[in-house]
Amino acid sequence: MVAPFEIRPFNEVLGAEVVGFDMRVPLADAEFDQISKAFDRHSVLVFRDQQQLDPASHIAFSRRFGPLEIHVQKKFLLAGHPELLIVSNEFRDGEPIGLVDAGKYWHSDLSYKPEPSMGSLLHSRTLPAEGGDTLFATQHAAYDALPAAMQARLGPLTAEHSYLARNAAQRAKSTLRPDLTEAEKQTVLPTVHPVIRVHPGTGRKALFVSEGFTTHIVELPEDESRDLLAEIHAHQTQDRFIYRHHWVDGDLVMWDNRAVMHLATGCPPDMARTLYRTTIRGPVPVGPAP
Ligand code: OGA
Ligand code: MN
Repeated sequence: MVAPFEIRPFNEVLGAEVVGFDMRVPLADAEFDQISKAFDRHSVLVFRDQQQLDPASHIAFSRRFGPLEIHVQKKFLLAGHPELLIVSNEFRDGEPIGLVDAGKYWHSDLSYKPEPSMGSLLHSRTLPAEGGDTLFATQHAAYDALPAAMQARLGPLTAEHSYLARNAAQRAKSTLRPDLTEAEKQTVLPTVHPVIRVHPGTGRKALFVSEGFTTHIVELPEDESRDLLAEIHAHQTQDRFIYRHHWVDGDLVMWDNRAVMHLATGCPPDMARTLYRTTIRGPVPVGPAP
């Protein structure tokens, strides 16, 4: 990196902006360390002015953090770069070029996998003049704000996460979301994770259930599970835990799926919005010690 970059926290709770950074230039180990620490600490990093970033450099930078996932929706991977998932509302020859309804519900990317994603990097390519913001909710602060009795109750619980349940729900709303083949379905079978997870970088605890992918709490009867999840969802998405990202030309946003949930707010359908995402594989989530 030629010019020294600067990391500017938005506030104490969530998010920081990285300025003077060129993601095309390979990072020295000390710089990588600095970014990595800031990532663990702030959970959302907004890299400004990445207009010139090319797919290969986006992938190479992401790989520094771990192996990359190839998304199960194979139709929407960038040609020649399957590590990049296209998130878009644009059409070519009547066909969507990307996942149109990506993330229009609170979720943590790939929480439905045995090894959920540790982080995602979303690069803006075409932005709408209006709307299209992405919300991030810190699940560290959300956990910390729970009454001690609730923290103790949730500590030993586990929950099921399912991509297939979510894909079916989205397909019921829109014909633009393809069904998966039987072989693809086998790669996204439901999986069980602790409701509270401990962040491997910081030791902080976070709520790890979401409206998007969590189907039920394993240890509870159905009605109790539904009520408890509804209570958690209402708690974990309060304004005080949220950073609202309004996309600016050149932005690349990297978020920590172990620490935050996110939500696409959507934009007017006649305005084009296209972003490219890499998804870093993470570790098996670990719950609190009994
Ligand atoms: C994603 C996602 C939100 C958005 O790409 O993982 O949820 O605002 N995107 O596009
Ligand atoms: Mn997402």
